Amino acid sequence: MSAPNFTPMREDDLLWVAEQEREIYPFPWSLNNFRDALSAGYSSWVMRCGAETIGYAVLMLVINEAHLLNISILPQWQKQGQGDCLLAHLKKVAVQNGAASMFLEVRPSNVHALDFYRRRGFEQIGLRKGYYPAAQGREDALVMRSEL
Ligand SMILES: CC(C)(COP(=O)(O)OP(=O)(O)OC[C@H]1O[C@@H](n2cnc3c(N)ncnc32)[C@H](O)[C@@H]1OP(=O)(O)O)[C@@H](O)C(=O)NCCC(=O)NCCS
Repeated sequence: MSAPNFTPMREDDLLWVAEQEREIYPFPWSLNNFRDALSAGYSSWVMRCGAETIGYAVLMLVINEAHLLNISILPQWQKQGQGDCLLAHLKKVAVQNGAASMFLEVRPSNVHALDFYRRRGFEQIGLRKGYYPAAQGREDALVMRSEL
């Protein structure tokens, strides 16, 4: 398997990204959410492995903080170390831009992601009540932070 490479997300990636997003999440970002992220200048990335596009991410950089808004590996590529590689890239970008810590929100029901973050140095620092839409009502968000 060739080493993955990362390219800044562009307008012509958005249709594909939004389509994958709908496959991955029960409550996906819309195409316009991604477009807004690009317009706002968020650090947005597409991850490729050889000819295949296997993941994407959106990172908001604010002074000395990085906020991980979206990190997604296509289902058939998960649990093979690709998420690790994508997160390492984002941490590198964050540090290069002067961030000292990275923050994110995650659903407590997203056990795989929660485990993934915990094993990579993220600790829970807060809870946002009813932050996410859910199948029944709303779901809380765990707020996590990792020093970089
Ligand atoms: C969360 C997410 C980004 C993690 O990416 P991933 O590629 O599945 O993660 P990795 O493969 O790097 O690591 C996950 C586990 O896979 C296993 N794994 C890693 N490399 C492996 C390999 N070569 N062979 C077998 N198993 C492996 C490990 O058990 C690893 O767990 P650990 O290192 O924490 O013990 C990804 O699962 C995803 O996109 N999920 C859906 C979207 C989502 O929920 N995003 C987060 C929203 S907050």
